[in-house]
Amino acid sequence: MEAAAVKEARIPEFQEHRLYDIQNDLWYALHDIITPSSDSPNSIDLVGMMGFSTPEGFLGHYIEDTGGLHIAHELVELKQHHEPSYNHSLRTGLFSWAGMRYLSDQDKLDLREKKPLFCLSGLGHDILKLGVPAEVLDKPGALTDDERIIMDSHVSPDSVEFIVRDHYMKGDGFDKKQMDYMTDLIAGHHPGKGLKSINGHAELITIADHMDAAMFRGGYQKKVSPEVFLEYIGRQLSEGAFKDKYAEPFRLMLEEYSRGGAEDGNQ
Ligand SMILES: [Fe+2]
Ligand SMILES: [Fe+2]
Repeated sequence: MEAAAVKEARIPEFQEHRLYDIQNDLWYALHDIITPSSDSPNSIDLVGMMGFSTPEGFLGHYIEDTGGLHIAHELVELKQHHEPSYNHSLRTGLFSWAGMRYLSDQDKLDLREKKPLFCLSGLGHDILKLGVPAEVLDKPGALTDDERIIMDSHVSPDSVEFIVRDHYMKGDGFDKKQMDYMTDLIAGHHPGKGLKSINGHAELITIADHMDAAMFRGGYQKKVSPEVFLEYIGRQLSEGAFKDKYAEPFRLMLEEYSRGGAEDGNQ
């Protein structure tokens, strides 16, 4: 059977609807990022950085073409389980993608055939939060030891490896090296959680992840301003936690931000 026919037979029709739903949600996520509102006073012009102007490009070229539709299934589950984590995943995917595009356009990141894996990893970096109860995800105060163990399970290299092998890459023709790279990218977004070798590229997803958590994710946490997040990046750089190369696109995004509603609200 031709590869395309195999792929066709493998992807149930409902998953295409799911992909369509995620495309719609990505539009909303992108809109939230680029358009300041009283609820979300921060905004960043991602469109110019991404090298394409629509989420369809983001999904179409890299998810659909690689047969990575399994991620659509997992993401829709995450939306039902805990919508804030789902929205955080979409925005982190967009930020990671924008940063990756910027660095590869500047010839500062050699990605070549890794681009699809990078795209899937940004969107799927928190997919194992499916296994973390919403009460734990939403808990405002400090976690108990038991809750911390449950929370940390979403970056356990073993579980990430399982999900990469058994969900993302089912029959898609990725070889072991590529799967290891992607496992590293996803599990590596929380350095120090027991992963043997942290993939350098995971740092880009880490910064995107932190940026969304600090500036865009709602809930009990207060959103910080771009200036405060820039200071945070500076601190991480001086402590050696981030490398300049990976921080560069995010600095650029933040330095060019438009504050919009930040000045007229009382937030
Ligand atoms: Fe995470
Ligand atoms: Fe995250």
